[in-house]
Amino acid sequence: MSFICLSLTGRTLQENIEDVRRYTSHIDLIELRADFLFTEEIPHIHRFPALVPHPVLLTIRRKQDGGKYIASEKERSSFFSIAMRGAFDYVDFETDFEHTLLTEIVREKKIRIIRSVHDFDGVPEHPLQTIRSIPKTKQEIPKLAVMTNSSSELYRLVEACLSVRNEEKIVLGMGAYGFPTRVLAPRLGNYLTFCSPAGKSAAPGHIDPQQLDAVYRLRSQTGSTAVYGVIGNPVLHSQSPFIHNTGYEKASIDAVYVPFQVDELIWFFKMAELLDVQGLSVTVPYKENVIQWLDDSAETVTVTGACNTMARSDKGWYGYNFDVEGFLHPLETVVDRQWLQGKKVAVIGAGGAAKSVVFALTKRGADVCIFNRTVEKAERLAKRFSCAFAPLTDTERLKEYSDMLVQTTTVGMAMGSSPTGSHPVGDTPTGQHSPGTYPEGLNPIEDYTFQGHEIAYDLIYTPEKTPFLQKAEHAGCRIINGTSMLLEQAKQQFLIFTGVHYPES
Ligand code: ATR
Repeated sequence: MSFICLSLTGRTLQENIEDVRRYTSHIDLIELRADFLFTEEIPHIHRFPALVPHPVLLTIRRKQDGGKYIASEKERSSFFSIAMRGAFDYVDFETDFEHTLLTEIVREKKIRIIRSVHDFDGVPEHPLQTIRSIPKTKQEIPKLAVMTNSSSELYRLVEACLSVRNEEKIVLGMGAYGFPTRVLAPRLGNYLTFCSPAGKSAAPGHIDPQQLDAVYRLRSQTGSTAVYGVIGNPVLHSQSPFIHNTGYEKASIDAVYVPFQVDELIWFFKMAELLDVQGLSVTVPYKENVIQWLDDSAETVTVTGACNTMARSDKGWYGYNFDVEGFLHPLETVVDRQWLQGKKVAVIGAGGAAKSVVFALTKRGADVCIFNRTVEKAERLAKRFSCAFAPLTDTERLKEYSDMLVQTTTVGMAMGSSPTGSHPVGDTPTGQHSPGTYPEGLNPIEDYTFQGHEIAYDLIYTPEKTPFLQKAEHAGCRIINGTSMLLEQAKQQFLIFTGVHYPES
């Protein structure tokens, strides 16, 4: 069991009390980050524990360790001394904090010391040694919080973490690559995991307690909860964790689904072994590259050359491609099954997602032309499926293939950082604009003028309407975004991963 600890970074105690009220049912512990408080609040911090219903950890984080505190160590010690009059349960002291009298008072009052090390540069070469060197006594809980800059750094951190068994510890990877350490705290044997009120992130990678508790179900996870996830880059904007985790909860399945930002697949798969990851969704830009990691695959992977789902068994990784069916399904809600026969369709992009789309379209008898920035890639894909290709800038050709335009590139995608999608990324790159004007660079076919007869289909689901779709809609076209496709292939993945259908409710 790992505790959910809410880090409070309000400027006043009252503001912090309100944040506690907001999340009280989702949290087990509170960290009062006194370094964020107005100076005039400091003399009152000893009263804080009596004003909230949870155990409280007191932290006065220095600037060099990622906090706001800039005055002298002497003054910090006196703040700690004032605070210790109150009923704090934990106090955070860094490894270089030495104060014999204060330490004695803390021990006498049976306040647990969390002994911490922060490193914003990266994961140390030998994180296990660092973890072992942190506590000064057996009663102290060591905390190592390090910026995690890559898949190899995450691998090192996870390996160290799993080597420290049955001992209290807090080992956290900050930043997007380190995110799994925050939501897999029970699997990693972490004493607690930190989170922040929405919109007040105390450290890189914090999510809010509601997501930790209700989406990742941290309190019901154990060391043996099955781990699934999505790999991609970027990936923290993905809504898949929300979809899958909600399904596990509704179907009472002991599993958790995590977004893994990956820069090098080799390190990710080494870590997947350590965490015993059972299944994966695969997204941009790995749909083609993961094929080399498969031990076997479904025919759709072989014919498309793209894989969006991996499931592990004792025979190794098996690959599937549910993008093909996932792509066709929403289309059939707009037109009938035969509609594609003989239709002229433009596919924008020639990456992994385009492969599945072109396969699906040609299978249904459409006359396809692939438009891509890198023409050679379009040509290669066109040869594979015996269709036409053209440069992205060829608007005359686009007009020719305009019964339907399918946008498969990442252009226009929001790169926001809502790690679960439980509150879909609102920070779209499009912002507000007046009708008919669109921000430049976020539509791969900016020079194309929609006539109104086209169907415009964008595989992107955040934002809900990319500039490509907005422009098409403005011209009177029927539009489809990537949400239905995402849901459709997620349902198929859910069945493969768990053996049960996605709960319909
Ligand atoms: P996926 O597997 O999701 O398809 P991918 O394989 O990385 O991801 O493919 C990304 C696609 O988006 C490619 O077609 C890429 O064009 P290039 O082949 O020329 O790289 C396209 N793409 C990405 N950024 C783009 C941009 N700024 N303008 C136009 N096309 C872009």
